[in-house]
Amino acid sequence: VLTTTLHPFMAILVELVLPLLILLLLLPLIHVLLALLRGKNEAHRLKPKLPPGPRGLPVIGNLHQLGENPHHTLWELSQRYGPLMQLQLGRVPAIVVSSAQMAEEVMKTHDLKACSRPVPTSWKRLTYEFKDVAFSPYSSTWRELRKIFMVSLLNVKKVDGFRFVREEEVERLISLISSLASLEPINLSKLLHSFSNDIICRVAFGKSFRTVGEGPEENKFHRILRETQALLAEFFVADYFPWAGWVDVLAGRRDRLEKNFAQLDAFYEEVIETHADPNRAPDDKVDSLDVLLHLQKQDPHLTMDHLKGFLLDVLLGGSDTSSATLEFAMAELARNPRAMSKAQEEVRRMVGEKGKVGESDISEFRYLKCVVMETLRLHPVVPLLVHRETMHHININGYDIPAKTRVMVNALAIGREKASWEKPEEFIPE
Ligand code: HEM
Repeated sequence: VLTTTLHPFMAILVELVLPLLILLLLLPLIHVLLALLRGKNEAHRLKPKLPPGPRGLPVIGNLHQLGENPHHTLWELSQRYGPLMQLQLGRVPAIVVSSAQMAEEVMKTHDLKACSRPVPTSWKRLTYEFKDVAFSPYSSTWRELRKIFMVSLLNVKKVDGFRFVREEEVERLISLISSLASLEPINLSKLLHSFSNDIICRVAFGKSFRTVGEGPEENKFHRILRETQALLAEFFVADYFPWAGWVDVLAGRRDRLEKNFAQLDAFYEEVIETHADPNRAPDDKVDSLDVLLHLQKQDPHLTMDHLKGFLLDVLLGGSDTSSATLEFAMAELARNPRAMSKAQEEVRRMVGEKGKVGESDISEFRYLKCVVMETLRLHPVVPLLVHRETMHHININGYDIPAKTRVMVNALAIGREKASWEKPEEFIPE
């Protein structure tokens, strides 16, 4: 309308110049808009793409969803959110790995970046500030300690050297069962618990601490160790809310921890003193503590705290793990008569005329081995393994896992993965 009423020259000028003028005036605005958009994209690019996971509550995150048996709850959650699931546990970011493929990513492909350990209150105290192997964060010192541990204590020759302990204790267990069986129902859980404790104590200290007159599992040392195990799994508020450590003090958890630490330490001191006694009978068989004391003489870097840390690993690693696995195996065999009779048939065939079998015969027990493997699949006794922590950022299947993320590998979920097993819930040793 404007141009038709203007002089033609003016009209051309207005038609050409006006849009240019408007464009010029808008340029700074466009520039600002573009910059904002770029910034947003950049922020989007920098924001980590975390794995999926259940929405948490303010402050506590997903802590309330763990329940009494976290391995079961997490397994259920993983069926909804997938084999790589993200959680927020108070202030602690975490991932849960629930498939063999994801476990391989974390524990093989990215092992070096994801092989450290978190530092919970109870682990720190009971391992003498991480002087052990199983619970300590990754470091060059840890690597040295692990090497010493594996080479000196868990080498094939050493393990084989303790065969007489295992064979004597198995024989004792079997005669105890046959003598009790005709009199009363047997509490196999208690017997197995006491059996594996006795073996590990003899391997570690040369004696079982079995007290004559006391029932299985009842002696003082077993009670201390049970409390140690409970404390290692205990929920300390300070580990998830560093500003609320006072809650642990008020709840008495700190006192419990200190008491257990003092009892365990006094016990170690006592056994170390008897082992260091120059009047000790020279024909006593060499146990793990002897090996450690000998190592300490050669390597001044090994302190008494290191020795105590090693002992804790041996005691914890070898007691409940083995007895609970045996207990689950017996329970599954009792529930599955077909597997039970196959296992019995194999044992009877192998024992044959000999009357009993020794450790050297074990490799021949093919079916029994399958029974053990199937038990470990269905009932992993350390179902979330020992928690790991990432040391660096890693990327798995396009998801970002930042450094210092807690890693829980759910062995229970992996053992029951539908993709890998035909009837995952059934006990089929074959
Ligand atoms: C059924 C028996 C056992 C089970 C189910 C079991 C389970 C486990 C698990 C899940 C871990 C953590 C692995 C990881 O984080 O990658 C572990 C580590 C360890 N276990 Fe066992 N364990 C058993 C027997 C033993 C025995 C008999 C000992 C020693 C006498 C032992 C000593 C250790 C040690 C020292 C570590 C730490 C290894 C490392 O960090 O490199 N375990 N065990």
